[in-house]
Amino acid sequence: MASGLVHPRTRSELERDFERFKRELPRDFPDHVSAAYGVDLTARYLGETVPHPIGKGSGQLSLNGGQLEDDAAAGLAFVVLKTVIAEDEAGAQSMAAWAIHETRMKVERRESAAGRDGWTVTWKGRGWDRSLDEYLALLRAGRELTRAGRLLVVPSVKYHLPRLAEAFRDPEYRYTTARLAEAWREPPLLVEKDFSPTLAGDALAGERAQIVRWLRDVPGQIRAASPVPVRVAVKLMNARFDDAFQLEMMEACAGADVLVCFNRLFDEKLGVAYGGWDLSERNLRVLDLLRPSPGSRPGSGRPLTPRASAGIPPLTGTGNICSGRMILEYARRGCESVQLHTFFQLPLAEYPATQGSRTQRALHALVFHPEDGLVAGMLELEARGALERRGGELHFLDVAARAHRQS
Ligand SMILES: Cc1cc2nc3c(=O)[nH]c(=O)nc-3n(C[C@H](O)[C@H](O)[C@H](O)COP(=O)(O)O)c2cc1C
Repeated sequence: MASGLVHPRTRSELERDFERFKRELPRDFPDHVSAAYGVDLTARYLGETVPHPIGKGSGQLSLNGGQLEDDAAAGLAFVVLKTVIAEDEAGAQSMAAWAIHETRMKVERRESAAGRDGWTVTWKGRGWDRSLDEYLALLRAGRELTRAGRLLVVPSVKYHLPRLAEAFRDPEYRYTTARLAEAWREPPLLVEKDFSPTLAGDALAGERAQIVRWLRDVPGQIRAASPVPVRVAVKLMNARFDDAFQLEMMEACAGADVLVCFNRLFDEKLGVAYGGWDLSERNLRVLDLLRPSPGSRPGSGRPLTPRASAGIPPLTGTGNICSGRMILEYARRGCESVQLHTFFQLPLAEYPATQGSRTQRALHALVFHPEDGLVAGMLELEARGALERRGGELHFLDVAARAHRQS
């Protein structure tokens, strides 16, 4: 393995850290990584600087205050709360079909089309199924953690998405955004808009023109509806169309502040969303289209120009991130941070750490694994001449910045 490129002394230091942190990962591990290895893990999400790139994606692991507390204690960089379904003043939700209650989740192995064994979480539920007031209480608890400098917590919303001939339901946008802003308090409000995989499986998302309109107009809709300045992350689904359309979706989203790329695939036969290696392969393949070598063409045969990445907002990666190496795969394609779900849910025996919360154990493996961890991967990029020190340090954000440099 290429980590043989890393200096043996550094490598044995990493092995020692990996061993001793199995019992307890220090909450300030980014400081330790900087002091011990000269590696600056600083990352960015939605315009906020965070101490390292690893965050939690919206879902069943950000539903209550206890989960947020554990994540703050573990030193996670940020958490996106479960997606709430927008409503108007009277409580009407045009996307109510997404507010269904379902508790059973199954963490299981899934083999990719290419035969690679990975993990997926099978679950038939959709959005937040309690009241908006309960959601706002969770957001307020999250804001306390953010104000205390312990954890950046951001809400996620599924707002009304009209058919082509229909107008957006402004009252749902206005009422929900105003309530979030009130709970948030200090502007700018940060919010993630979810275009979910179950939406990709819905007849609503069967038309390309309709999807492109949503992506073009939704960030502006949210801005117009907000009583305070707002930064909008758009979490893109994997649509049922080809890679070139996936890129078209990114281009349509120029009005967003960040794109989260890309939510899970949808299995039409089983009627469920899924992840694993098929997901990361697709996501990375599409992100590769953003920095083509001269003359290369995407699947559709449409020539790609540097313009492709120029008009696109900053990126955050999601999908099958189970190692530091995979974080760097997304970073090398321009992602300034990552959002995980499945890796925070594995059976305990799958983590090398022996103590601590799942979040701690996951962070331990992602950062310190001597072969596949983030520190090992950064040092290896340096050894290969793919990353240089600035001010004596290797910077995680330089990996993403290099992706946008057109040669
Ligand atoms: C059980 C489950 C529920 C999820 N719920 C949401 C959700 O409500 N909103 C959302 O934007 N993403 C949701 N996601 C997607 C995750 O945030 C994440 O982007 C996706 O699973 C890919 O990351 P992973 O491969 O690390 O799981 C959910 C994922 C799972 C597994």
